[in-house]
Formats: sequence, structure tokens, C-alpha cells
Amino acid sequence: MCGIVGATARREVSEILLEGLRRLEYRGYDSAGFALLDADRNLLMHKRLGKVAELEQAQKLEPLHGCVGIAHTRWATHGVPSAANAHPHLSGNRVAVVHNGIIENHEALRSELIAAGYEFVSHTDTEVVVHLLHRELAAGKDLLQAMLDTIARLQGAYALAAVDAEHPEEIVAAREGSPLVVGVGIGEHFLASDPLALRQVTDRFIYLQEGDVLRMTPTSLQLMDATGKPVTRPISTISVEEDTGGRGHYEHYMLKEIHEQPRALAATVPVEGAREIADSVFGERAAEIFDQVRAVQIVACGTSYHAGMVARYWLEELAGIPCNVEVASEFRYRQRVQHPGTLLVTISQSGETADTLAALRNATDPEFIASLVIANVDHSSLVRESDLVYLTRAGAEIGVASTKAFTTQLVALLLLTLVLGRRNKLDAETAAEIVGALHQVPDCVEKVLTREAAIREMASAFILRHHALFLGRGIHFPIALEGALKLKEISYIHAEAYPAGELKHGPLALVDADMPVVAVAPGDDLMEKLKSNIEEVRARGGELYVFADEKAGFPEAPRVHVLGMPDCPEVLKPITYTVALQLLAYYVAVQKGTDVDKPRNLAKSVTVE
Ligand code: M6R
Repeated sequence: MCGIVGATARREVSEILLEGLRRLEYRGYDSAGFALLDADRNLLMHKRLGKVAELEQAQKLEPLHGCVGIAHTRWATHGVPSAANAHPHLSGNRVAVVHNGIIENHEALRSELIAAGYEFVSHTDTEVVVHLLHRELAAGKDLLQAMLDTIARLQGAYALAAVDAEHPEEIVAAREGSPLVVGVGIGEHFLASDPLALRQVTDRFIYLQEGDVLRMTPTSLQLMDATGKPVTRPISTISVEEDTGGRGHYEHYMLKEIHEQPRALAATVPVEGAREIADSVFGERAAEIFDQVRAVQIVACGTSYHAGMVARYWLEELAGIPCNVEVASEFRYRQRVQHPGTLLVTISQSGETADTLAALRNATDPEFIASLVIANVDHSSLVRESDLVYLTRAGAEIGVASTKAFTTQLVALLLLTLVLGRRNKLDAETAAEIVGALHQVPDCVEKVLTREAAIREMASAFILRHHALFLGRGIHFPIALEGALKLKEISYIHAEAYPAGELKHGPLALVDADMPVVAVAPGDDLMEKLKSNIEEVRARGGELYVFADEKAGFPEAPRVHVLGMPDCPEVLKPITYTVALQLLAYYVAVQKGTDVDKPRNLAKSVTVE
């Protein structure tokens, strides 16, 4: 999605802005631009379609200088990807604006501004903001007041930053529905939609809250809340280990992140060696809230939704707690009926996904007794707005395809199963076994990573295929879904997952020699049934790629390729089998030559509906 960077300093800021944009590239974008105010109060700008590298090239050929500036990477929503639609947008050659989010009433505002004599040069919703701001400034208001009066006219979601040639040291910004953070320097201030963009210049951040409006100069910060009341917000320091540390020797972030899973999982399991999980790992009020829980409603999107689907099996089978799981974009618009005593659980890597956040916001008392979020980003909107929080310790995830965030979410959900389960049907012995298994999770994943070469070899069979089927049963059906999602998003191969028992109710018609079928087949209770499903595929000439427990001795046969998975506790198999499927998708994509870390049309953090 779109990214914002801003800087006001007593030194040149063009390189700070460009480096910030480079650091936001992982989020997905189609064009980029920046605007600077030079020493003579001229507003200067470069905008390019395509990568930040194009913008760097423009700056190299025609260097622009200035100590105050704003920059943006755009992911098109209104208006095609083009240089004209890229941000910043200008008005009257004095004011520039960058914007994340969507202005819903832009059509009415556009008509009003055209009637007032403003000319539009883009097809974006954002351009109305810069002209509104210009109109307020032209009426003699200062930049802060002009921003306050402008946002009063806007409906929708926004993170905005603006500079004005008549207020040469200032950047003003406003947040409603899209994140913004101030980077605090010494005699300089920065702004970004994600602190990662500013890690090269500061480790001290102030997170703006919904409705906040900001004016900053190199030496001052003025913040007010939605009511216009001056406020101060705390400064948080981000530690070094929260940084991404680059790609290291890995060709892609995705591969690095797959390999980081043993460490990320170990960090997400609370206390090494502990035999019991304390309620308090979910927050101060956890014990009091968990005592009242009679049911769980999980809401999430994409990969995080798949984590929720796995959790349903654990919560119902192990903890004896009824659990529903729904994608946030459906949940938020539906008339719902909940069991009394339902806990709302949202799951999100970024903590900023617009639909999940909206679902949390419209799910209020008395529908739910409380909300819990499982998120990977501290200070994110979901974290700030939920009653209870479990932070996964995956570290920054840069690849658009979620990997370590998913497996750490599963750990968090297993912990939730333990704390809720001990109030219900989970006996102490089983609980202790699960805690013991959790301490083995890093080793188990390390063992899966030793299968990398064999999985890479298997991947070569997929590169000329246009479609693939994934099959799983029980708790491994969501893992099949996750495997299919990984494959389609990074290799662009159309992949669908089915519960294996559904095969003969339709999808079997698709099976022929051109349709590879991936089976997630751990040696669990459903193995014999899955074997019959696999035979159904083989009998139709299908080519099978079976991920099965090594010790189950799944028989190789013509057109049946078996990838033996290392032994590990049963409860960890959704995690270990996922890692194998991540590697499969990764190597298919690499061999196809797609942009693995930034697949086309996708964004890392989906902050618009
Ligand atoms: O940040 P979130 O976990 O809320 O994001 C949800 C989805 O957008 C995300 O999982 C998406 O499906 C990934 N690209 C999957 O790899």
C-alpha cells in the first residue's frame, strides 16, 4: 500500500526521503515522488511511474535540494498508475500534499473546487485535498489551521502530510484511519507511515493516534487530538533487533524470513522451560476476562485468517470451546448473533489491516465480552484498540507473502488454547505435553529446513503449470489453503485448496496430467481416508506431490512423489507442514522468475478497504 516519508531539518533531506521510500518498497507500490522546499521557498518535485530507482535516477540527472520535504510511494486506488497520478500533488505552486487512504467524498469536493476555479491534473481522490488546503491558505490561514479546516471537509481514511512555500520550515500532518509516526531527531523531525522508513535517522518515535493533527519544524512539535485539544504523546524507542537487518546473504526477504522461523518461534513462546502458560502473557486483565469466556469469534484476513481456521480445531478439540472464524471483510458487514460470553479475537501481522480494524471497531459490548488481538507490530492500531494483546515476536516481515508471521500466530493461538483450555476440558497432563511440544518447535522447524533441496527439486515440476490443487483433511485443510495462497500470490499459478473429502463433489473433474495435486498428508487419524482420496486422483491420471511423515512410510508410486517430513509432535504439524509449503511456493516462484518479495498487484499492509 502507499507509503509516506517526510523530513524537516537544517540539512539536505532528499537522500533521507529516498532512503525512506526504499525502505517502504516492500509494501507494494506502482509510482513514487517527492517534493522539496528549497532555500528560496521554491517548491520542487520529481515523480515517476515505476520503482523508487526511477526516482533516484531523476534526482541524479536533475538534483533537487531542500531541507524540508515530503515523499510518497503510491499504490493506485483512484486513477491508473502514472506519473500524473503519483504523489505529491500540488496546488497553486505553493502547497504539496501526500496521502495514504481513500477520500470517499472526493467527487462532490472535486465538483465544488472546479466550480471555484481549480484545475485538476490527476484522477486521484487526493488532489481535492491539496486544492482545499490551498483555498484555506489563500484565505490567510496558517498551515495548521488550513489543515484543520480541510480535514473537517473530508470523509474516509487518511494519513496526510503537507508543505507550503509560505511556511518554509513546517510540515503539517493528520491521521484518520491510516497510520503515521513522527521520528524524533536532534534538531530535526521526521514523519512516516511506518517507523521502518526512518530507522536510518532515528530510533525514537511518537505514534499519532486517530484524529491527531501535527505541526512540526526542525525544533518543535505541536500535536492536537481530534477535538483540537493540545496533547502530548509518549516517545517509544525501537530496539535494534526490531530492525530488519537487510536481506543478509539471502536472495529474497521471503527466504530469509522462512529461515528466521526457528528464532521467531522461540521468541514467541513465552518463557523457555516454563511448564505452564500464565494468563498474564495476554495482558493485565486476561485472567478476569478469560474466566468469563464461553465462546471465541476469530476475525482476520488472508494468511491470518488461515491461522484462525487452524485455531478453531485446537480451541474446539483441545479446549472444548466453541469457535467461529470469519474473514473480516464479511464479518464487518453482517448481522451477527453471538453466544453469550464470546471473546473477539483478531489476528493480524501488521495490526493495520483496514477490514480487521473495522471489524474490531464495529464489534462492541454487549456482543463481545472483550477483544484480544494477536499482532506482530507493537503500537499498531489493532494493538492500541484491543483489550488484550499477544505480540508475536516474528520481527519485521518484509516479504509480501506472510511466512514467519503465520507460524508465530499459530504459536500464539496454541497458547490461547492452553489458557482457555485449562478452564474447560484440557487436562493438566495434555497441557504440559503441549507446552513441552512448544519448546521443541524451533528444532522441528530446523529439521524441515533440512528438506529444502528436495523441495526445490520438487518445485521444478510446477513451473510450466497454470493450475494446482491442494488437499488436506481436518486441521491440515487450512494448511492446504495456506499452501495454495502462498503459491498463487508469488508464482501467479492458480491454486485452490479443498478438504480432500470434497474432491469427488466437483474438483475431481479438473484432475488430469496437467493438474498437479499437492497433498498435506501427515500420519494422523485421517491418513487412511486421505490415502483413498489420493488414489482417486491417481486413477484419473493426476500427478501427486505428497507431503507425509517420513515414519508413516507413504508409498512412492508412478506419478506419486513423496516428500518425507521429519518427526515432530502431532500438535506442531500445522506449523512444520506450512514451512515445507512455503519453501515449495518460494522455489516455484524463483524458478518462474517472478518478483517474489513484491508480487504484482499486492501490498504488504492492506490499509484500505
Ligand atoms: O497484516 P495482516 O495479517 O492483517 O494481513 C492480512 C493479509 O493481507 C495477509 O495475510 C495477506 O494475505 C498475505 N499477503 C498473505 O501472504
